[in-house]
Amino acid sequence: MTGPDANLVLVGFMGTGKSAVGRRAARALGRELVDMDAVIEAREGRPIPEIFRDSGEPQFRALERALVGELAARRNLVISCGGGIVLNPDNVADFARTGVVVCLTASPEVILRRVAHDTNRPLLQAPDREARVRELLAKRQPLYDAIPDRVDSSGLTIGQAVGAVLELFRARAGSAAPAPGDAADGGVPRVSVERPGGPPAPPPPSGVQGA
Ligand code: S3P
Repeated sequence: MTGPDANLVLVGFMGTGKSAVGRRAARALGRELVDMDAVIEAREGRPIPEIFRDSGEPQFRALERALVGELAARRNLVISCGGGIVLNPDNVADFARTGVVVCLTASPEVILRRVAHDTNRPLLQAPDREARVRELLAKRQPLYDAIPDRVDSSGLTIGQAVGAVLELFRARAGSAAPAPGDAADGGVPRVSVERPGGPPAPPPPSGVQGA
């Protein structure tokens, strides 16, 4: 959906920066941030590893699915999703109806570095973490690739990734969305992306892909 009150929805594999980028994007836009994993944990009263262990992954996916329905009915949110949200294409379709969906990506090497010491992600608690990440990425790649607006955070600082995401968001949502740095976050670097149908723009920085 376009319009100034469209949600900004961040999807992407674990370790691509959704939470950190979401926090700063929400601050820059002066919006409420909804971290889906945090909401699920708070409502369940138990951490995600426990939900997976005691109730199983399908139950976690059902909780995610229900929360998507709830959040897609709201507006003016920045939503940071769990990495597996793309496993059910209905989730992405529902979010796209009322928001702008941006997929954060990163190279397998960068992802591995960022999640190297993680103990909170049940899907990564495997003896060979690198093999696990590569296997999950390979399975999910077509689902992430299907999202037209993507930002590769591999070589970017968080501030640069936020700038790229907000630029895409403003291009899609319309000019009423505040520009990066409008809110009191000290400002984030502006980066340019192509704006279909808009005035000529300089080429996008490497890592930013707008459809
Ligand atoms: C998952 C990613 C996690 C969390 C859960 C499952 C996934 O969120 O939802 O552990 O299937 O990729 P983050 O992407 O925020 O780590």
